[in-house]
Amino acid sequence: MSLLNASTAAFKRGIASSALRAQAPNRGMKVLAVLYKGGEAAKQEPRLLGTVENQLGIREWLESQGHEYIVTDDKEGPNSVFQQHLKDAEILITTPFHPGYLTRELVDKAKNLKVCVTAGVGSDHIDLDAAVEKDIQVLEVTGSNVVSVAEQVMMNILLLVRNFVPAHEMIQRGEWQVSDIARNAYDLEGKVIGTLGAGRIGSLVLERLQPFNPKELLYYDYSPLRSDVAAKVRARRVEDLKEFVSQCDIITINAPLHEGTKGLINADLLKHFKKGAWLVNTARGAICNTEDVAAAVESGQLNGYAGDVWNIQPAPKDHPWRYMKNPLGGGNGMTPHYSGTTLDAQARYAAGTKQILENYFKGKPQEPANIIVGVGKYETKSYGQR
Ligand code: NAI
Repeated sequence: MSLLNASTAAFKRGIASSALRAQAPNRGMKVLAVLYKGGEAAKQEPRLLGTVENQLGIREWLESQGHEYIVTDDKEGPNSVFQQHLKDAEILITTPFHPGYLTRELVDKAKNLKVCVTAGVGSDHIDLDAAVEKDIQVLEVTGSNVVSVAEQVMMNILLLVRNFVPAHEMIQRGEWQVSDIARNAYDLEGKVIGTLGAGRIGSLVLERLQPFNPKELLYYDYSPLRSDVAAKVRARRVEDLKEFVSQCDIITINAPLHEGTKGLINADLLKHFKKGAWLVNTARGAICNTEDVAAAVESGQLNGYAGDVWNIQPAPKDHPWRYMKNPLGGGNGMTPHYSGTTLDAQARYAAGTKQILENYFKGKPQEPANIIVGVGKYETKSYGQR
């Protein structure tokens, strides 16, 4: 079946269930979810809840209450299942891993849309300003995967600093030349490590870095750390960005993507980094300029870059971050976007999504921490200073 036919067939299935919905007008709401395709893995592993196949584990529950549930990974273009069903959906569920981009133009077309739920953390794929203007609430399952990401950050820092990837590749090639690896391998102990963004993930990372005996921990954030967290992590706040980056051996980015962070790490700022610093970005790809980061790795200005987030997802085959290498042939720790979708995280964000829906159906208030955009206004301070 062609993609278009598959979309049409899926759309017709949606129409069929809309007809059923007409019999239960007081109960039926149209819930549209854009999830990633899990393929064979999702058939074999039912705990892959964030997939099209396993549907966040909420289909039976939704349908038993008379709601209609459309699930798709087909999200690009006006004929996509996403854009077709968006026209009359009341609730949209998306994930950052395979983002259904809700642009201003699509918000205008989504006449019935009341709530967007991000199954996970990070709602930059939604035009939040447009949601504010149209009284569309945007909710996240706040905290659901912050430990998962903080652990990934630790792994990424270690694999860059210790030059792990080239060492592993050497073994797989059947070679053994210790000096080729050791010439660019260091200890984490004694380094200056900073987080750009010190919210839930940033502060967990700082906490996890303490036992490595860093020389100093720094953070850059327009919101100061809560005093109890600050006392625990003993990190120094640096208020000027250039000063911050110039002091760090390792920087980890843990801020949301918004108008104040888009393209923040670019050629101009990279000049202020210490020569040979390492950069880890598990926040959002577009916070870094793709070409500028690749050039900085190739020249050795950055000794390495690692992360799981890309400016376009799925990343095209020729994306420079797939192939960039430092002058010694290492320094690339890129993976697909999965740090926040471990099986443990999926259980938490699926349960959190269900709770948000239940609150909405029953007219109960939402957890304040989950509300990014409330009715007609931003409820969080994380998506830029307003
Ligand atoms: P949070 O809301 O607890 O913390 C974000 C922090 O960033 C806040 O303290 C905020 O003040 C700060 N911030 C915002 N703009 C800034 C700027 N211009 N400069 C410096 N600091 C700034 O969010 P949380 O839970 O820590 O998540 C952070 C981000 O991590 C998410 O927005 C998302 O983009 C990303 N994430 C990635 C995942 C993955 O799978 N790779 C999974 C979960 C989150």
